[in-house]
Amino acid sequence: MSNLTQNPAYQYVLDPDLTSIDWPRVLQLFQLVNWKHRVAAEIEKAFKLSTNTIFIYHEGEIIAFGRTIGDGRYYAMLADIVVDPACQGKGLGKYLVTALNNLLENYHFVNLSAAPGADDFYKGLGWKRQTTAFIWPQGPKQLRQHCEKDEE
Ligand SMILES: CC(C)(COP(=O)(O)OP(=O)(O)OC[C@H]1O[C@@H](n2cnc3c(N)ncnc32)[C@H](O)[C@@H]1OP(=O)(O)O)[C@@H](O)C(=O)NCCC(=O)NCCS
Repeated sequence: MSNLTQNPAYQYVLDPDLTSIDWPRVLQLFQLVNWKHRVAAEIEKAFKLSTNTIFIYHEGEIIAFGRTIGDGRYYAMLADIVVDPACQGKGLGKYLVTALNNLLENYHFVNLSAAPGADDFYKGLGWKRQTTAFIWPQGPKQLRQHCEKDEE
């Protein structure tokens, strides 16, 4: 279990009542980090089907969030680790990943698919590159961003 340090300026909420979430703000944060192919109603459904969710607030507004998807024992993954660009570099991403990962200690396999540019963020937190991972690309962009060049 890794230690977590909270900044008193922020509110950290693990597994909130998801009916209380400001979904348009969540959509806005996805857009601010350039993950543009998201739809508010679908995001809400996806979070509600997730195993755990975490949100960080500043003065009542969501500034960061993340979630896990798991089967309870064997396979789990982290997804949608997002920090408002205005609040990046303050340890919030590290907090999200560590807090969620702490919930997955009982799992056999824990992995994630890093967004382009985030490799070193995860490496810095102790994550290892997985040599055995495969992806079924959902289009040319994923083929370009997530696949070995010799696979194209
Ligand atoms: C990646 C992201 C979650 C990092 O959040 P953050 O709050 O800025 O990160 P933190 O402040 O907690 O940084 C923790 C450490 O990682 C480092 N770090 C942060 N982003 C990094 C990056 N893109 N590359 C390399 N190192 C990074 C920090 O310097 C810090 O190092 P330190 O502990 O030695 O000081 C954030 O930039 C983000 O939301 N990006 C857009 C969405 C995204 O790519 N999500 C992750 C992929 S699924």
